[in-house]
Amino acid sequence: MEAHYHNKCLLYALLLVGSWICSFLLHLQFFHLSLLRYSFPYYHRLRAASVPLEATFASSHAFAQDFTSSRRSPSCDGRYVYMLDIHPRFDLLNACVDGSSSLLEDEHGACVLMSNAGLGPALAPAASGDDGVISSNGWFNTNQYSLEVIFHNRMRHYECLTDDPASSSAVYVPYYPGLELNRHACEANATERDGPSGEFLRWLSSRPEWAAHGGRDHFMVVAKTTWMLRRRVQPDEEAGSCGNRFLDRAEPRNMTVLTYESNIWDRRDMAVPYPSYFHPSSSGAVSAWQARARAAPRPWLFAFAGARRPNGTLLLRDRVIDTCVSVPARCGMFGCDSQRGGLEGCRSPEKLVALFLSARFCLQPRGDSFMRRSSVDAVIAGCVPVFFHEASTFEKQYRWHAPQGNKSGGNYSVFIDPDDVLQGKVDIEEVLGRYTDEEVAAMREEVIRMIPRLLYKDPRVRFQGHMSDAFDIAIDEVLARTRRIKNGEDLGWQI
Ligand SMILES: *[C@@H]1O[C@H](CO)[C@@H](O)[C@H](O)[C@H]1NC(C)=O
Ligand SMILES: *[C@@H]1O[C@H](CO)[C@@H](O)[C@H](O)[C@H]1NC(C)=O
Ligand SMILES: *[C@@H]1O[C@H](CO)[C@@H](O)[C@H](O)[C@H]1NC(C)=O
Ligand SMILES: *[C@@H]1O[C@H](CO)[C@@H](O)[C@H](O)[C@H]1NC(C)=O
Ligand SMILES: *[C@@H]1O[C@H](CO)[C@@H](O)[C@H](O)[C@H]1NC(C)=O
Repeated sequence: MEAHYHNKCLLYALLLVGSWICSFLLHLQFFHLSLLRYSFPYYHRLRAASVPLEATFASSHAFAQDFTSSRRSPSCDGRYVYMLDIHPRFDLLNACVDGSSSLLEDEHGACVLMSNAGLGPALAPAASGDDGVISSNGWFNTNQYSLEVIFHNRMRHYECLTDDPASSSAVYVPYYPGLELNRHACEANATERDGPSGEFLRWLSSRPEWAAHGGRDHFMVVAKTTWMLRRRVQPDEEAGSCGNRFLDRAEPRNMTVLTYESNIWDRRDMAVPYPSYFHPSSSGAVSAWQARARAAPRPWLFAFAGARRPNGTLLLRDRVIDTCVSVPARCGMFGCDSQRGGLEGCRSPEKLVALFLSARFCLQPRGDSFMRRSSVDAVIAGCVPVFFHEASTFEKQYRWHAPQGNKSGGNYSVFIDPDDVLQGKVDIEEVLGRYTDEEVAAMREEVIRMIPRLLYKDPRVRFQGHMSDAFDIAIDEVLARTRRIKNGEDLGWQI
């Protein structure tokens, strides 16, 4: 039983079903999770396609210089960022160094997931004549936990890095709290789970860079949802909950922390998009993909990829799956369980992209938390997301990245009241079927326009063309925020 759930859960984690099932199983104490003990057979197969690691701390400076040229340029005024040098004992990937082939050989190793500067193993473009969906370079089997590494590698090439903290508008802290948290089994006690990141925060707040503004000009990324960083349990309940109390500590409260999902009722961090599979290196590649998403035939009215929860603990999700099964001609689905080949579909980025590319709407019922990586994958494929909870919506989560209100249309998703679905007052198929072709096309166009803002460029190369991606937008917003904070404004989490 334990082993069975172990495997299943780890697969789901990879396959964009997001953190929900893991967290759920973790709550049930089914298994010990350690990122460094992943077991994804899929990665094993792909490993041959991966290229050398570029995700080490050691290589950072030499690596940054080669294509960063515009330093000290006037366009950098107010945009300088100082990247903190982290003490090597806090480097979570110090074992992953170029040339240590034994680490790449370990199919369970986090190093494999972190290859290609965090993008993961490259997906081979389908041969011409093949009907494979991925027809260009720039696609990777990107792990959902990889944003800390991707972000760090983008920062290394950020055009306005400075060596002088005093002249910077913000200080970037390249520590990976999500990877650190993944090392701990859920059964670990509070000392084990909170200890290492606590030690890091003590080190951080003892730095001279911190002293200047009490850390309020510092920012960092955590590749987790806010819920995993705000564990609230009584001491006797410790076993069985997985997170830590990172965001409850004093230091992160002064910093700008970026996570995958914020608590919209009590914000302490800012949500940024999950990384999807597409990491282009030119705006031409993005336009070509947008054209592809626009032109794709979409035989399914709606699609869903995800699994049921044991014992009907997420009724809406059960209802979504039942609806899908009941109208096989209108709904494309990967059940993400071993039945009907669902698991295989969920394991394959190509199959998932193909599914979302052939549906008009993509259903996003909540999992253990509200935001799903699948929502981003759907948008990248030009599929209009359908949300069932306000905390799942881009408008509430991706306040920097998604159109807000009707400012720029904002008509790119559908919201269905989950109670109405559960009480049988509305039928998902009927609601979605009411949209005319023209209405769907208009919404899809908004979705397609949003693609650049939700993807992360390939951090390894200089991007050809002008396009702001999720990273560029996040940096601009972080800088706008820290500049105001340094001016003495008390912003809270308004922006
Ligand atoms: C927590 O767990 C570690 C490792 O199992 C153990 O050494 C330590 O004594 C535990 N601490 C507490 C407070 O129980
Ligand atoms: C957070 O910022 C406030 C205001 O600058 C400062 O008084 C406090 O010491 C800072 N907290 C930490 C942990 O440094
Ligand atoms: C689900 O149901 C099975 C069988 O009835 C039971 O053994 C298991 O503990 C239940 N799990 C939860 C989470 O309720
Ligand atoms: C949004 O649209 C409504 C109805 O079209 C309009 O009344 C309202 O002023 C708009 N709000 C903004 C912020 O544009
Ligand atoms: C959004 O699009 C739908 C379908 O085209 C339309 O019925 C609705 O009025 C639009 N809403 C806004 C605010 O534009």
